[in-house]
This record gives sequence, C-alpha cells and structure tokens, in this order.
Amino acid sequence: MASARISLIALLFLAGLARGETVATLDSPGGVLAVAVTLDADGRPGYAVTRGGVPVIAESRLGFILSNAPKLERGFRLDGTERRGVDATWEQPWGERRFVRNRHRELRVRLVEKRAGGRRLDLLFRAFDDGVGFRFEFPAQDGVSEIGIVDELTEFAVAEPATAWWIPAGEWNRYEYLYRKTPLAEVGQAHTPLTLRTASGLHLSFHEAALVDYAGMWLRRGDGAQRLKATLAPAADGPRVQRQAPFATPWRTIVIAPDAAGLYESDLVLNLNEPNALGDVSWFKPYKYVGIWWSLHLDTESWGSGPRHGATTENARRYIDFAAANGFRGVLIEGWNRGWDGDWFADGSGFSFTEPYPDFDLETVAAYARERGVRLVGHHETAGNVARYEDQLADALDLYERLGIDSVKTGYVADAGGIRAAERRYEWHDGQFMSRHHLKVVTEAAKRRIAVNPHEPIKDTGLRRTYPNWIAREGARGMEYNAWGSPPNPPEHEANLVFTRMLSGPMDFTPGVLSLTGRSGQKIRSTIAKQLALYVVIYSPIQMAADLPENYAKFPGPFKFIRGVPVDWAETRVVAGEIGDFIAIARKDRGSEDWYVGAVTDETARDLRLPLEFLDAGRSYTAAIYRDGDDADFEAKPFSIAIESRAARRGETWSLRLAPGGGLAIRFTPDPAMP
Ligand code: NOJ
Ligand code: CA
Repeated sequence: MASARISLIALLFLAGLARGETVATLDSPGGVLAVAVTLDADGRPGYAVTRGGVPVIAESRLGFILSNAPKLERGFRLDGTERRGVDATWEQPWGERRFVRNRHRELRVRLVEKRAGGRRLDLLFRAFDDGVGFRFEFPAQDGVSEIGIVDELTEFAVAEPATAWWIPAGEWNRYEYLYRKTPLAEVGQAHTPLTLRTASGLHLSFHEAALVDYAGMWLRRGDGAQRLKATLAPAADGPRVQRQAPFATPWRTIVIAPDAAGLYESDLVLNLNEPNALGDVSWFKPYKYVGIWWSLHLDTESWGSGPRHGATTENARRYIDFAAANGFRGVLIEGWNRGWDGDWFADGSGFSFTEPYPDFDLETVAAYARERGVRLVGHHETAGNVARYEDQLADALDLYERLGIDSVKTGYVADAGGIRAAERRYEWHDGQFMSRHHLKVVTEAAKRRIAVNPHEPIKDTGLRRTYPNWIAREGARGMEYNAWGSPPNPPEHEANLVFTRMLSGPMDFTPGVLSLTGRSGQKIRSTIAKQLALYVVIYSPIQMAADLPENYAKFPGPFKFIRGVPVDWAETRVVAGEIGDFIAIARKDRGSEDWYVGAVTDETARDLRLPLEFLDAGRSYTAAIYRDGDDADFEAKPFSIAIESRAARRGETWSLRLAPGGGLAIRFTPDPAMP
C-alpha cells in the first residue's frame, strides 16, 4: 500500500502534470509500476503510469469520436471498480520459451455519462511488473448497438524526453522501412511497436495486443512534443471501425523495462491475448525449409512461365532431394500457379490458387516430397487482391489438405492502401477489413490443419497464442532487400529489428545467404558468421535456409550450423544488447539439453562479454563456435570465419570479438556423463 501512496503523491505533485482527479489506482504485483485513472473537471477520462514512484506516462486522454453518435469523451462519472489478480503459468505449443508466467493485477473502471440516459464505457487495465495494458469495453446497453469509430483518442504522454526508433505509418510501403532513430519530438506518424529510450535510461515499447476485428493503431505526435496519439488505420468507406456492442478493443500496451534486454524478454503482449482457441495443435511442428525463392529474387529464375520458370517439376525435385539430404522438413515453391505472367503485382486478377502451370506437376511433386519425408510449403500470393483470394480460399486450402501440404505462405504485395476488397473498394493492409481477412484465412486453414505465414501482413499482436497455426509473418524488411533493395539492409538492421519489429512476434526473415551476394552481384552487408547468428537472433518457428543449394555446397562448415540449429526453444535469455548496436541471445533447444548463442553487431566491431550463466552448473559442455575470423569485416573480408571447438562451463566469462557487420553463433552440447 505504501508504494501506491507514494506513486499517487508522485503523480499529483512531483509530476505537476495531473489535471484530473485520480478516481482509482492499480499497482503491479511486485509494486514496480502504478497506474492512476483520472477524470478531469469536465469528466474526461485519463490515465497515468509511474515506475518506482517516478512518472513514466503523464496524464493522457482516453475516448472516442463516433460516426453515428455523439463523441464518447467527456461528461463521465465513476460508476464503480472491480479488481482481480492473476498469477498463472501457461505452456506455449512452440515459441521462444516453453512456459510463460502471466502475473498481473487487473482493474475495471466503470464509467457512465452524467447526463440522463448516459452511456456506459468500461476501461480495463492490467498492470504487470514490466508494463501496462489497457482496453476499452463497450457494454451492451439500450440505444447503443452499432458503433462507428472515427477516431480513438488514446494518448501516451511520455514524461521524459526520449529517443525513438520507428518506421513511418500511412506511407506506401506498409512496414518495410529502415528504422529511424530520432528524438521523440520528431516522430511524425509511426507504426507500432515503437521503441523509446528515455533520458533517464528507461526503455519503453508501445504496441497493441489481440488486434481482432478492429483497425491497427498507428501513433502520431499529438498535442505537444512528448505526446503520442493513437490514429486508426483508415477504412475505404465510413468509420475506421464498425462493431456491434458489446465488444472490446485491442489492448494498448506499454512495456516498461530498465534496459533493452527487458523489452525483448517481456511476455506482456502474449499474456494479453486469449488462450489457445484451436485445441490440439500438435500437428504443427516448427521446421526449417528451403525453396525456389532466392533465385527468383536474384532474377536468375522467374515466377512467371517461360524458359526461366523456377517452379518446374524437375527443379522442385532437385530442391526436395536437397531438403531430404540435409534434414529440412519444408520446400517452398513460388510461382507454381497460374497468374504470374505479365505485371503480377498490378492487381493479381489472374491468380488461380488451384491450377498449376503446365510444367509443374503439383500432385507428382507433392507425392515425391512426402515419400522423402519432406513437405511442400504452399504459396498463395494475392498481390493484394483479397476479393479474388477469398473467392478461392476454400478450394485452395482443400487442395493443400488433400496433398498433405500443411503450411502456406501467403502474400499481399500491393502498396499500402491498395488491398482490393471488392470491385471498386480499396483497403489498407492494417485496417479493420484486413484484421478480419487474416483471421478468416487462419481459422479456415486451422480447420484443415494448415499453418499460415503471411507476407505483407497485418502486424503481429500476439494472436499466435490464440491461433497457434499463425506461425510467422513478414512485416519488416527481410532478406529479400539484400537481393534487390536500394539500399540493401544496413549492418545495424537486425540489431534494430530485435528491439522493434521482433517485440511483436516471429518473423519469416529468411536468413542464411552464405554467398553474401544479391541480384547482379549486389553485396550483402554482413559477414558469413552473422548469417548463422540470425537463426538464433531473429526468432521464428519456421526458418528458411534461403540460399541456393549450389551455394551451400561451397560452405560445408558454416552450413553444418544451419542444418543443426533448432527452431523451437525451451528458454530464451538476452545476454546483452543495445537498440541498433548489438544483441546477444542465449536460447535452449526444446528437443535436447543444448544451448545456443547468437550475437550480431552493427557496422562497429566490438568485444562481446559472454558470461556462461545460462549453462547448467556442474556440467561440462563442448562448444562449437562459429565466429568472425580475426580479419573479418563485412566490406573487406565478409567470408572470413573461424570455426572452433572449446570446452565450456557455467561460471566462465568469455570474450569474443564481433567484426564490423559481423556476428557469432555457438552451439553448447553437454558432454556425456563419465561412467
Ligand atoms: C514478397 C515476399 O516477401 C517474398 O518472399 C515473395 O517471394 C514475393 N512477395 C512473391 O510472393
Ligand atoms: Ca515482402
């Protein structure tokens, strides 16, 4: 209670920002964070957050502008509160860690408009020791059924000056931008997760959880340099969100951590999602895959038909043989179906999701794969023509189910705002329409035991907890930008991704291009050891070995790491890291006692201090180390790699050098017990 009192005092006096009266407070279970819910003199609801009594989020507005009713924003009074606490541990079917602890306190604040016949709105807050989530609930009530939301007024008034890492929202290229680092005051309009480091060194991540049947939230600078304000992704016609009461909005989330590592280690977003709604999902097992893909981005083969067509029966057999020989479960084949000829990304109106090109015998290829213990990974590129895809969805998924194709990569290559929802209706990739569409694909696929991996997706908000067949997505600049991007991804890119995009969930980044060469000889700005590190650093339950088979043949040493690295983890610990500079992560294999470490740096070389605290005490390990060679450098000597074996024990602290643009990957295997 003492901490609640201190935080309240801090809010009212120290910050000097509180204008409203605090009507309810909520402490996190360990007393680290406190939330105050306020009503100002005009009955406008707000909230504020402190950490250790110090303001983190100053008083910030809450409310809605509606299209079909007066705004829900002022004239409220408190009509009661309800509280509960949760401390439960749940098991992930797959993930970065097997067990997730969900420990929080919850506060429901019932608000009602003071005027006669006033409407009700509930605010639901959950305080964790590493962050806060809140959502709005529109209860069922007389005279309020259809809700049209034009604007959500949620604000985040950051109490201190801060540095921001962000990508622009509402621009043409969806989420595929390089991260910019600016003062908070220079954030224009950003996607979430948006990451901040405050002047006092606190790390914050703003995002949302459980984005279901609602528009994605963007953040733009609101009233004043420190204030971020929600903006909902637009809709083609009418309000940005249309719902029927009762309903709840997605959670607005703020992870609050003392360091960058704490941001990555937080499970807050997952915890705010509903438990598994699909029942037994053991049919999906994390896997690695290869495929007819990099050659298409190199432009040495084509998606479309003709002499360079990549998806031929013969080429598919070659990849299947390669996968079988090297223990990869999946083979992705893009360009297998009719519709790629000509300017396919113009509108996707020619795509068929059931008819293969004549030089690709789908049935034979799928059977050939199954006989070798390999599965095809399906591919549905829509070019944003969702109307056409939804028309064919059931048939397309039925076909895959019949052929034993149990995961599908989907794609929505179209400019932002260019999703074709109907003949003359265009939507955003992250508007309410697409939040519905993606869930439709995921639930239809689940009925057929098919897992889904969308590219050009809507952002991840932790829905893999509820729908564990939603295994990964793109939603950032991946490896393909190293083939043809101008510019290609810079060396700092992955050290940015881990503390921004990766805070939302798994990414199908498609690492492992050991040839370090893109289209027309474009150089990849990475060492070869860093390519290996990405399998540990960039989490996904599916990981591609993206390079061409003939290139892997040239690098048998490094390729051995890719063949062996797991894709499902029992534990994950961030060893060290700073946003945009470097990151080192230790993960324990879910299928063995092995530990893995992956580390990447930006363009700056550094000596990584690696305390082996994660290893079991009293056990000796043999480490297979894949590190940058002593002369390695992403520009001058990218292929220089040292592969070494070394004995390892808990209690030791290693020092390992990361080259400019470099990285390292280590596998720790326990030694057999002495008889
Ligand atoms: C963009 C995806 O990110 C990429 O992986 C895919 O090859 C192309 N679209 C074609 O679907
Ligand atoms: Ca893409």
